[in-house]
Amino acid sequence: MKVLIVGSGGREHAIAWKVAQSPRVEKIYCAPGNAGVEQYAECVNIGAMEFDRLAAFAKEKEIDLTVIGMDDPLVGGIVDVFEKEGLRVFGPRANAAILEGSKAFSKDMMKKYHIPTAAYENFDDPDAALAYLETAKFPIVLKADGLALGKGVLICNSLKEAQAGVKTIMLDKQFGASGNCMVIEEFMTGREVSVLSFVDGRTIKTMTSAQDHKRAGDGDTGLNTGGMGTFSPSPFYTKKIDDFCQKYIYQPTVDAMAAEGRMFKGIIFFGLMLTADGPKVLEYNARFGDPETQVVLPRMKTDIVEVFEACIDGTLDQVELEFEDNAAVCVVLASDGYPVKYEKGFLIHGLENFAQKDGYYVFHAGSKRTDEGIVTNGGRVLGVTATGKDLKEARANAYEAVNWIDFENKYYRHDIGKAIDEAK
Ligand code: AMP
Ligand code: GLY
Repeated sequence: MKVLIVGSGGREHAIAWKVAQSPRVEKIYCAPGNAGVEQYAECVNIGAMEFDRLAAFAKEKEIDLTVIGMDDPLVGGIVDVFEKEGLRVFGPRANAAILEGSKAFSKDMMKKYHIPTAAYENFDDPDAALAYLETAKFPIVLKADGLALGKGVLICNSLKEAQAGVKTIMLDKQFGASGNCMVIEEFMTGREVSVLSFVDGRTIKTMTSAQDHKRAGDGDTGLNTGGMGTFSPSPFYTKKIDDFCQKYIYQPTVDAMAAEGRMFKGIIFFGLMLTADGPKVLEYNARFGDPETQVVLPRMKTDIVEVFEACIDGTLDQVELEFEDNAAVCVVLASDGYPVKYEKGFLIHGLENFAQKDGYYVFHAGSKRTDEGIVTNGGRVLGVTATGKDLKEARANAYEAVNWIDFENKYYRHDIGKAIDEAK
């Protein structure tokens, strides 16, 4: 069969790599893709938001399955466009992708269906938000309602900071129309865990857990980024916590979406905080995580194409989702200065070191092929993943492989997975 993947990051590279393992797949396309995805897929120069062109391409090439990696096209309704054209596509329709597209919607839904999350209020009027803050407790969390490249969340330690935050989001519109509405919520403390799941509208099957490192600097300092590295599984995500989440968070979310007439098919990514009062939902995403995917998929045993199809067909209950009993760590190699200002266009050396090495992967996030070779082309450039029998070994392997790659202004965190030392 022929598969089209929509997106251009490390996540899509990992999805393409995994799809390529399926014996049923004979050809993969990726739009627009990057210089790494090229190993497995023919990259097509169509943007992820060009729905009509993508659908026309899928028809012309007789694509059997399209997989949407990114949030923007999902929230924008790419699945609806493909379905209208009679094309098979994996991902939620726009009315379900709202789970990620509107934080105000997802908070209201959690409240209505008693799914554990931080206490909150929604605001579409900046004066009402400012008035609310006068009596609030700090720190407090401000969230732009819509998509904001993971940057629309402000943690404010004082009334003054929070007032400035309201201005940034609702008046200066730093995140554009995403800031027309805002969530103000209680600040929670605890460990964060990402749990990705496959959903077919009714049945949900969770993948192995992972933990992201969102801040730019070692020791969780500096600005929030798209993610500087991940490890999987999380040793803090115990069987007891999983049992709780399956019962009170995962299935209830799927059931709530169905009850709202927004049947969800695709990936639900649960961003969880393990608080002293139990696990609570920080956020939902309607797609694979980046770079969570780069540690979760290398551990997945099941043929991913079978799972995609079962989600579309509503037969996920018949699929047995299996993961290796090992661990994986991904260290993101970024351009120095990310996420603010950085140079790109530097030649990347050492990619060939990963060829034929079992358990070592280099997923491209921002790279470009030129006549001189593959060059850096983004803030996050590569995700270096290694597996191991346990997290300690996987981490040692990943940091060993980080040294195989060289480019000018290479920057990475040195403490990805360090938290595992604290696990009992
Ligand atoms: P989100 O995009 O909602 O996951 O938020 C980005 C990051 O902000 C999360 O990964 C957390 O580290 C932090 N965050 C979000 N909401 C809260 C909260 N209510 N309490 C504490 N930290 C939060
Ligand atoms: N790594 C977090 C995300 O994909 O949103």
